[in-house]
Amino acid sequence: MKGVQEKSATSRQALALLVPIFKRFRLRLLAGFCALLGVDFLQLIVPKILKKGIDSLAERSADAHSLLLLAALILVIAALVALLRFIWRILIIGFSRILEKRLRVQLFAHLVRMDRSFYHRWSPGSLMAHAGNDLAAVQMACGMGMVAAADALVMSTAAIGFMLAIDVRLTLLALLPMPLLALSTWILSKKMHLRFSMVQQQFGRLTEFARNALVSITLVKGYCLEGAQEKKFSELGATYVRNNLRVAVLQGLLHPMAALAGNTGMLLVLYFGGRMVIGSGMSLGSFVAFITYLAMLIWPMMAVGWVANLGQRGLTSLRRIATILREQPSLKDGGITRIHYHPQAPWIRCSDLSFTYPGTDRPALRNIGAAWSTGIYGITGRSGSGKSTLCRLIVRLYPVDRGMLFLGGRDVNQYSVAAVRKEFAYVGEQTALFSDTIYNNISFGRPGATRKQVEEAAKAALIHAHIIGLDKGYEAKVGEQGVKLSGGQRQRIALARALLSNRRILIIDNGLSALDVSTEQEVFANIRRLYQGRLVLLVSHRVNLLARTREIILLERGKIIATGDHAALYAAGGLYTTMVDKQQDHA
Ligand SMILES: Nc1ncnc2c1ncn2[C@@H]1O[C@H](COP(=O)(O)OP(=O)(O)OP(=O)(O)O)[C@@H](O)[C@H]1O
Ligand SMILES: [Mg+2]
Repeated sequence: MKGVQEKSATSRQALALLVPIFKRFRLRLLAGFCALLGVDFLQLIVPKILKKGIDSLAERSADAHSLLLLAALILVIAALVALLRFIWRILIIGFSRILEKRLRVQLFAHLVRMDRSFYHRWSPGSLMAHAGNDLAAVQMACGMGMVAAADALVMSTAAIGFMLAIDVRLTLLALLPMPLLALSTWILSKKMHLRFSMVQQQFGRLTEFARNALVSITLVKGYCLEGAQEKKFSELGATYVRNNLRVAVLQGLLHPMAALAGNTGMLLVLYFGGRMVIGSGMSLGSFVAFITYLAMLIWPMMAVGWVANLGQRGLTSLRRIATILREQPSLKDGGITRIHYHPQAPWIRCSDLSFTYPGTDRPALRNIGAAWSTGIYGITGRSGSGKSTLCRLIVRLYPVDRGMLFLGGRDVNQYSVAAVRKEFAYVGEQTALFSDTIYNNISFGRPGATRKQVEEAAKAALIHAHIIGLDKGYEAKVGEQGVKLSGGQRQRIALARALLSNRRILIIDNGLSALDVSTEQEVFANIRRLYQGRLVLLVSHRVNLLARTREIILLERGKIIATGDHAALYAAGGLYTTMVDKQQDHA
């Protein structure tokens, strides 16, 4: 997994995450554990009642009335146990769910705040796994894990105590196989967990494979790969079954092992204890009570191994969560939250701006110098020359060193990141639409916009006519289950969103590339009209758009190799001239 180079959080730092939540719910937990103790206490007195009944029978002092009374007592205890069990479950398991929810919200809030450098290191897939598996492991440890630990501790101490009170030697004999039981459940549940995560991983691979094959079904068919895909899928499926069977083997071992250890203890007690009863060293009632206590010990002994495992797993997961939560955004907020544009200073200025992506060693941009104020400006250059990188730096998706990038005459590092982002509307290369209605996709750019404003923006982006032609119009859903939109339609919806947001600076990074020439020109004219007196940076390969901009910068391998308007660049006779000539040949 990526992100291993991160300094992982210590157990102490991880546990610190839980402290405030435990503190906040301490009364609830206290009540829950009291109920749990109540259950244990009541369960422990049942053998005492049995002993009394049986001894009275053995001594022939029992009558129907006294037996009925004892039976009624056992019934009352059973009802109380049921009630208390219900209460502790609600209180403690409920607590673990609340804890899980709080951590999940905390994690999500953190993730949405992180920037792109973070997402280079943590893939969405591994983050989803954290959100799912790790939170579940923490929840288990703080829910059932805590309950089982408390329960096992109380039950085993009390049961052993009572057994010791009945007979010390017999107790030692009966306990002989117990450590073996604890040890074997510990080993087995550890192994089981390992194998179970292999099952989950394999299931992940299986679904990912199916998803990929179905999403790129056209590709699969185009290359006649159906047979090959089926074979691969069947192999993945076979491994999945094999992994599952390996879990089943361990599951099959666990309970028989427990029964074996428990019954060995029982055997010893029956033989030696039985001889004591025969020799009148022990009453029959004590003997029955002893056996009942012994039976009560089997579960806590199994629990010891299981709980140790749950705890260990919970802590490992919590440490991973803490590691993510400790990561800081690489973009530091400056204090200034308002941006003023002075008539003397350019709106945006790059000065000797260089940038290398985290984890790479070749600079994506070198010594860029440019200045833009009002008007529409072009940025062009071959694929991979750094156009998108430049846009990303301007909208503060990555940190830049001091003295390289200025907004309104001030170093961008002096502003808060949010303040800078609010200046920009950005239409990217890949049009990001949500699985939501078209209306919400557009109004996302400006929460609280009126219907009229949304429609105006859609009109300016030349998509309104298409939208109202759809069955549900603006309420049509976008996405897999919704309406199918062409690349150009998606781009225009994204553009409508950007136009609606009405920011001071508009950046279009190849965002008109899928439009046909006449639509493109009309959209361009609308943008020019709406952005009168504001700034538009237009990344494009299209010469006929670039020709309408005030000035163009031409990038090549991260460097500016020419600056000027269309005519000047064309006259220079370099890369730009070749670009123009080639496009005109095609036209
Ligand atoms: N996230 C990233 N991590 C590392 N390197 C990157 C990353 N994104 C881009 N690059 C590299 O930076 C260089 C510039 O990429 P950029 O996306 O800015 O090119 P571009 O000019 O926008 O190309 P295109 O016209 O194809 O969109 C390329 O060499 C690319 O491989
Ligand atoms: Mg690009």
